[in-house]
Amino acid sequence: MSEQLASTAKAMVAGNKGLLAMDESHPTCGKRFAKLDIPQTIEMRQAYREMIVTTPGLGECISGAILFDETIRQQTKDGRPFAEVLTAAGIIPGIKVDAGTKELAGHPGEKITEGLDGLREHLAEYVQMGARFAKWRGVITIGDGIPSRGCIQANAHTLARYAALCQEAGLVPIVEPEVLMDGGHTLEQCRAATEDVLRTVFDQLHVQRVLLEGIILKPNMVLAGLACPNQETVDEVADATVETLLRAVPAAVPGVAFLSGGQSSELASARLNAMNVRYKSRAPWALAFSFARAIQQPALEIWRGEEANVPAAQQALLHRARCNRAARRGEYSAAMER
Ligand code: 13P
Repeated sequence: MSEQLASTAKAMVAGNKGLLAMDESHPTCGKRFAKLDIPQTIEMRQAYREMIVTTPGLGECISGAILFDETIRQQTKDGRPFAEVLTAAGIIPGIKVDAGTKELAGHPGEKITEGLDGLREHLAEYVQMGARFAKWRGVITIGDGIPSRGCIQANAHTLARYAALCQEAGLVPIVEPEVLMDGGHTLEQCRAATEDVLRTVFDQLHVQRVLLEGIILKPNMVLAGLACPNQETVDEVADATVETLLRAVPAAVPGVAFLSGGQSSELASARLNAMNVRYKSRAPWALAFSFARAIQQPALEIWRGEEANVPAAQQALLHRARCNRAARRGEYSAAMER
């Protein structure tokens, strides 16, 4: 089992590829559709995700795709389950298994992720449907007097319990503690919060006997908040991010696959590229990606719910996937965007 977990985890970050997150819950997907006047129906979600999974050549840049519960149960119009279409394209199917966030009791402004109840049974079903890895996102907010110790510890403990259950089921857990970009905080505040969160998460993973060789870490990059007037350069963000990871992430972890978190597609690629230019030869783990918005958004804006736009949307999706594969090699440049 340990060998299988370690080999799946390695495959998820092999070949300078990365992960495509397409696991938006109904409310999140609904918000993105609503902005473009796309009807929020099961048929539209099926059509959108069919556009993604049938993109020709996607497997050249994407090693794995994270699906949502509804999506892993869906099929193409000609009746092929999405998980099968992905596998045939050389893309490993994975599944989001958390049930979203709720207010953390006693901690105003902070959240805890739910979904541990019945998780063992859910995981067994997803294995039957072809999933080989899973994802769980914990959310940490920076603000006045937060994040609190209570919030960091509760989320770290929950992530570790989830990770242990995944490994028991033979699934590689993507461990995602996201320090949000929302707000006016500085990069230094994000650095301090991220280091604290990661140290606590790895402590809890150890306590829960999680095999580090068989996980993928999905962290935020270390950045100033979206509303902070002072935004560091691409190289400064790359340095702050990798320095923080070097302090807190054990070398046994095979891969770090960043979330995009609301950065523009271009900035996410440029920052990932700078990390690989500066650290690829000496970082102990792969510096990879697991983007949702930073890969999908341009394609969604072209697709807009119209069958006729599918080829152009697929081109846009493939372009972002290629930009991010180039970023893993340290070969991305603004010229690729022309
Ligand atoms: P973004 O890249 O859009 O932040 O999404 C990644 C993800 O899976 C969030 O859980």
